[in-house]
Amino acid sequence: MSDQLKMMCPICGNSLAKKDKSFVCPQKHSFDIARQGYVNLLPVQNKHSLVPGDAKEMLIARRQFLNRGYYRPICDDVIGMMKKYSLAEKPVLADIGCGEGYYTVAFEKDGGAECIGVDIAKDAARMACARSKSILWTVATASHLPIESGSADIVTAVFSLYMNDEYARILRNGGIVIEVTAGSEHLKELKAMIYDEVFEQHKCPSPHGSQFEKIAKLDRNFQIGLEKEEMKELLMMTPHAHRMKKERMEILDSTESCQLTVNYIIRVLRKNEKRKNDE
Ligand SMILES: C[S@@+](CC[C@H](N)C(=O)[O-])C[C@H]1O[C@@H](n2cnc3c(N)ncnc32)[C@H](O)[C@@H]1O
Repeated sequence: MSDQLKMMCPICGNSLAKKDKSFVCPQKHSFDIARQGYVNLLPVQNKHSLVPGDAKEMLIARRQFLNRGYYRPICDDVIGMMKKYSLAEKPVLADIGCGEGYYTVAFEKDGGAECIGVDIAKDAARMACARSKSILWTVATASHLPIESGSADIVTAVFSLYMNDEYARILRNGGIVIEVTAGSEHLKELKAMIYDEVFEQHKCPSPHGSQFEKIAKLDRNFQIGLEKEEMKELLMMTPHAHRMKKERMEILDSTESCQLTVNYIIRVLRKNEKRKNDE
């Protein structure tokens, strides 16, 4: 971890420094680094369920599916945006809702960023540790990020959450948010197999506040061909699996392979440079 990445105590808001096998703040709040390498920075008052975030079986399915490389073009597009729009040479990047770390690792390795991965699920952080030892993996909530104000160059949110004020707080002026959301055609063939009726469900990007200006948007579409096992992994990594009727699972079981549309939208927002009237 370099000096560039500035951590913040989730309890009192003071700076957090790494000391031996813990992170500590001047108020003596201390957070142990787990055996696997992640640090839990989610105080109980910010934890709204016993096991928050994605379930372990969902994370395992996601790891298996993503390792097959079908979603690599999404990584490449985000890295392309980083290189084109970030003002920093070696950017500090916070990947919010990083899951088991597939994208975060690529942002470090191929995007040249210094990364911190943030996810509210402890199992996600545990699994991410196996992907990289040089990334700081944290258990924390996107609504109270354990990162000092104005210390990040890039925030990525890949199929995750958009937290306008918190992202604006941690970014330096001129820093960027790169958000990936599912487009209206995303996995439409899979949804047709699962549901009686498929409603167009384009998750519109949340409106951004006046701290940001939209500087780029990309709407991408490509096809993938999957075998039965791969289809099941993809299904298990999404919320669709839990909503699926038993008879529909039987239809899926009898399907040997399928062609699916992958459709995603990338939006890049830049935090405004400080204006004259700003404090
Ligand atoms: C759909 S997954 C995407 C994971 C990863 N970005 C990917 O695309 O592989 C969303 C992730 O957000 C995490 N998450 C949900 N609520 C969160 C919160 N309030 N703060 C941080 N992470 C959260 C979940 O645990 C899950 O890993």
